[in-house]
Amino acid sequence: MLSGKRILLIIGGGIAAYKSLDLIRRLKERGAQVTPVLTRAGQEFVTPLSVSALAGEKLHTDLFDLTSEAEMGHIQLSRVADLLVVAPGTADLMAKMAQGRADDLASTLLLATDTPVLVAPAMNVRMWLHPATQRNTAVLRGDGVSFVGPNEGDMACGEYGPGRMAEPLEIVDAVARALGDGPLAGKRVVVTSGPTHEPIDPVRYIANRSSGAQGTAIGAALAALGAEVVFVTGPADVPPPDGVEVVKVETAREMREAVHAALPADAGVFAAAVADWRVARESGSKIKKTGDGTLPVLEFAENPDILAEVSSLTGDRPELVVGFAAETDDVVAHATAKRDRKGCDWILANDVSPETGIMGGSENAVVLISEGGAESWPRMGKDEVARRLAARIAEALGAD
Ligand code: CTP
Repeated sequence: MLSGKRILLIIGGGIAAYKSLDLIRRLKERGAQVTPVLTRAGQEFVTPLSVSALAGEKLHTDLFDLTSEAEMGHIQLSRVADLLVVAPGTADLMAKMAQGRADDLASTLLLATDTPVLVAPAMNVRMWLHPATQRNTAVLRGDGVSFVGPNEGDMACGEYGPGRMAEPLEIVDAVARALGDGPLAGKRVVVTSGPTHEPIDPVRYIANRSSGAQGTAIGAALAALGAEVVFVTGPADVPPPDGVEVVKVETAREMREAVHAALPADAGVFAAAVADWRVARESGSKIKKTGDGTLPVLEFAENPDILAEVSSLTGDRPELVVGFAAETDDVVAHATAKRDRKGCDWILANDVSPETGIMGGSENAVVLISEGGAESWPRMGKDEVARRLAARIAEALGAD
């Protein structure tokens, strides 16, 4: 999927540099050509020999390397690449990039290029959260640099939090995305995700327990296959994925407007837990206690069913419409009936009874209901469910 692509991989000085050795292998497995650059600090963590042996290419380390100046100028080196990948992207390298400094080979290449750049940050959690690094990240994003990770987890330094470098396969996906490559390249997909909040008054609302984790994973998986994703999300617990157009909404009605504005699309995936009802008359001011024992009574009105509406469109109906069903009993029967009722092509049904721990958890056990019947998938991580679904969508849209 990356055949013929040239990646210039800059390996910075961090403990995560060991993962960059695997990254070289993974990129090459997919057909990319990897030209490695190892910073001076990077050489403290992995050896030049292992990097060049894995890449099967000459390793570049020094700005004033005359032989290589004769073979290929350093400026040229960054320009022939399709993508520059910085992994691990240390706090120091990111600071140099944000300031436009060029005092070693890596920073010079990054300044001399007009090729897209992808950074996989890796550093101690305090360094990542430090205002200086956050400021540099914002500057780099503004300059058009894309990011993958950092992930949250245990760190080599014994602390816990965001700062771990993304895993090699996640970086490979981000590379494919940055290159606009993959079987869904050229396809537009609208994804809804997260809960909706339906206001009662300016300070109160009705919500549900959806974390947005499954929808977010689906957005990421579709983007990883090269799709242009419009990600319409309610107030979710998890941040939206990288590499998608994010549209933040609160209520079901706002979500519906955003979805219609995003059409036409090749596919729609409706993973949001949209509130079925809203409060009929939202109070413009905070509802106060009366003191005489009378209690407020909430009257409900039905929200628009976004999935059913989009499924029944004539002109703008996406070629493939996928809905979700969260059921607590008779999963297949209820989901099959829901597919008919809503008029969508597929329903991904899951059992959300409390004992499954699925709602808000990291795993999912789903059944894919289509015209062909019900297909049960084994219990797996929400990321894996998302990757499978994205691959099936690519197949259905006739992508190669
Ligand atoms: N959905 C939607 N708009 C709504 C409600 C639901 O787009 N107003 C979508 C969800 O994103 C999901 C699917 O419809 O893809 C199933 O939602 P669900 O709430 O389970 O459907 P209901 O018809 O409300 O079924 P039930 O009452 O059995 O829960």
